Amino acid sequence: MTLSLTINGKTHEVRSDPDTPLIYVLRDELGLKGTKLGCGLEQCGACAVLVNGQAVLSCVSAVEAFDTKEITTIEGISGTEIGRAVQDAFLKMSAAQCGYCTAGLVVATTALLSRTPAPDDDMITQALTPHLCRCGSHPRVLRAVARASNR
Ligand code: FES
Ligand code: FES
Repeated sequence: MTLSLTINGKTHEVRSDPDTPLIYVLRDELGLKGTKLGCGLEQCGACAVLVNGQAVLSCVSAVEAFDTKEITTIEGISGTEIGRAVQDAFLKMSAAQCGYCTAGLVVATTALLSRTPAPDDDMITQALTPHLCRCGSHPRVLRAVARASNR
């Protein structure tokens, strides 16, 4: 089956099994390795991508569910002003150690600030709670979110 995926503004024809989780198509077929596989069980947030502007986990949902959607991975996140600001804030605040969780956090923060430019603490906590970081970088992540939202 051929699927047509729109990823980072480009259309890709992929011939995957339609039941394949999206992340395997991104990483193994399209070479977009920035999206990370952590738990593979929708429990850690590492695999988040933007789908029509929302942060969506890519490790379980089948690729066919994304056939007509606009997908943005971490490779394309700097294509928007907010995405660029978030990436820059994470860099400036050194909001990563090993970096394994970082793509998911940048995606989640970009989705949050795109719908709510000045979120309160509860909104930030709600948006980022699904994202685990084994390195304990959360305090610096919160500073990066504050910087990106000009707080
Ligand atoms: S790898 Fe998808 S949530 Fe953990
Ligand atoms: S920076 Fe290592 S898991 Fe978050």
